[in-house]
Amino acid sequence: MPPTGLPVPPIVQFHSRPETVDLAWGHPDPASLPMAEWTDAYAGALRRYGGSALTYGYANGPGPLIEWLAERLGHTDGRAPDLDQIFVTAGASHGLELVAALLCGRGDTVLVDAPTYHLAFRMLADHGVTLLPAPSDPDGIDPSATGELVQRLRREGHRVPLLYLVPTFGNPTGRSLAGPRRAELVAVAERTGLVLVEDDTYRELGYDGPAPPSLYSLAGDGVVVRLGSFSKTVAPGLRLGWLTAAPPLVAALARRGYVDSGGGVNHATALAMAEFARLGSYERHLASVRLRYREQRDALVAAVRQHLPEVTFAVPSGGWFLWLRLPGPVTASALLPYAETDGVSYLPGTHFFVTDSGDEYVRLSYSLFGPETLVEGVRRLARAMARSGDPVRRGTDARS
Ligand SMILES: Cc1ncc(COP(=O)(O)O)c(C=O)c1O
Repeated sequence: MPPTGLPVPPIVQFHSRPETVDLAWGHPDPASLPMAEWTDAYAGALRRYGGSALTYGYANGPGPLIEWLAERLGHTDGRAPDLDQIFVTAGASHGLELVAALLCGRGDTVLVDAPTYHLAFRMLADHGVTLLPAPSDPDGIDPSATGELVQRLRREGHRVPLLYLVPTFGNPTGRSLAGPRRAELVAVAERTGLVLVEDDTYRELGYDGPAPPSLYSLAGDGVVVRLGSFSKTVAPGLRLGWLTAAPPLVAALARRGYVDSGGGVNHATALAMAEFARLGSYERHLASVRLRYREQRDALVAAVRQHLPEVTFAVPSGGWFLWLRLPGPVTASALLPYAETDGVSYLPGTHFFVTDSGDEYVRLSYSLFGPETLVEGVRRLARAMARSGDPVRRGTDARS
């Protein structure tokens, strides 16, 4: 206890509950983080760049990381951005915050995919906008209906600056928007002037082949802002990411007062990442986590098929999540207390919609646990499902 008598603030966001297989959190296993390699990278950056590593940095992000990102995106995506199209951020969340600050005004209407990353809702809502779901069907966002909605909203006097989506190995579905819809959505955005904010956080975590070309790579200048992150590929605690956008938008971000005042947003860590890449550690680490997550995905998928044959899902070909559809009548939120009692947890689908829907879905994250624990989690979930359907127990307090 400090002298004030207040409890000591914790170190991290998530605390595991040893008795629970908690599949609600999209976090990496701390044991999988590249401790030794990152230590070397940081030390290497300090040696290589000397005092330049610890002074104020270039507003857009340090040159060595920007050059590496441009080259890498030429391999992992359909188009290598020019150097003046890249801005180094403190993570995808920070990228979204910056873009919203630049493009959104209070009272605007912002469209979001349905379902999509739930914490993006809070980041956007912080800017005083109203969130509306973009029209979609079982194959994902519907571009032409989205275009019509934008036109209608504008005719009614609303400002609709942007649409947020995670089209590649998305959170929460693991799904990727199909090629033709990508092209159609870009065409709709070009026609209407709607900016697509493409959260591309999971691009490098594909397990069955390369990711589809980004919306960014398909669009003309100014149509798409693409957010990238090192949180899932390397470590979330680095608070490091990047975005690609048209040069005027990148320049506007670099001119923001706090970016200018601070000399970039995470300068020393960005240089350490450039060194991490130069040493080959990025490639090696990525290869090892891809293998790990692929095994974890396969174990979870097999366990769900075996123990929960009545739920339906599509096998995700990348990312961290499995999106289950419950057979009914029990809903995800009604099932949760039973699951918690049986020692397993998850996020009900309602989190991922801005409207009151999604309670027939469950998001399971497979990033945190190895195959055996995932299988045990699914066994517990199957027990909870069986109990939730038991008419004798239904209606009683599941926690008692
Ligand atoms: C789609 C998506 N975007 C952004 C984030 C947060 O990324 P970052 O740590 O880079 O801010 C997450 C993390 O779960 C995510 O799933």
